[in-house]
Amino acid sequence: MFFKKKITVAGTLVALVVLGIAASAPADPIFKNLKVLPKNTTHEQLDSVMHMFNSSLGVKCGFCHSFENGKPNFPSDAKPEKDIARYMLNMTGEINAKYFNSENSTRPDTISVVKCVTCHHGNPHPADSVAAKPGNMPPPPPPPMPDSAGKVQPQNKK
Ligand code: HEC
Ligand code: HEC
Repeated sequence: MFFKKKITVAGTLVALVVLGIAASAPADPIFKNLKVLPKNTTHEQLDSVMHMFNSSLGVKCGFCHSFENGKPNFPSDAKPEKDIARYMLNMTGEINAKYFNSENSTRPDTISVVKCVTCHHGNPHPADSVAAKPGNMPPPPPPPMPDSAGKVQPQNKK
């Protein structure tokens, strides 16, 4: 699937981001399989991130976590939705750091202008909404052309 390949590339700009969890002094990690959230995430922090996921996407825990005989296995990565959520965490963090760091913060990982709910609005499939149908997007701008001196001018300067 599209997201699977990107996950490895999505990289290191890690990023939480959504709640501004600070990477502070290392404590004994409580959770076994955190790859995006800081290893020292507390119970309270994890709980609020997970409930934010539920409400932003309009889903329950089992949308991303596998359940066997009614019992949850939260560290398991068996469900692809969980890895997509990791990819989305990285993506959201990068959007904030790249496009919303107007004050040149030294901690762009704590910026959370764009959140899961910004796109999802309680829907796990925002691409299904009418506004996201192909054809409703303006075409991308043409690539910048070198001037006579062979230099590429920034496009947003008049
Ligand atoms: C949209 C997907 C999604 C939903 C919904 C979701 N989770 Fe998660 N959960 C994740 C991801 C992704 C991670 C791993 C984060 C990472 O790698 O840093 C995770 C990690 C966890 C962990 C840590 C497991 C470990 O030891 O590594 C627990 C516990 C957990 N979730 C509980 C819950 C509960 C309880 C709910 C419902 C209230 C829930 N989650 C809803 C995506 C989700
Ligand atoms: C910039 C917009 C945007 C943001 C921000 C965003 N998403 Fe998404 N997300 C999408 C789009 C678009 C899809 C593809 C939906 C589809 O295929 O129908 C998607 C798909 C997903 C899926 C897969 C759903 C499925 O069933 O295939 C998960 C899980 C998900 N997002 C979780 C999250 C989480 C968690 C966050 C916040 C950390 C987040 N997203 C932030 C736009 C966004």
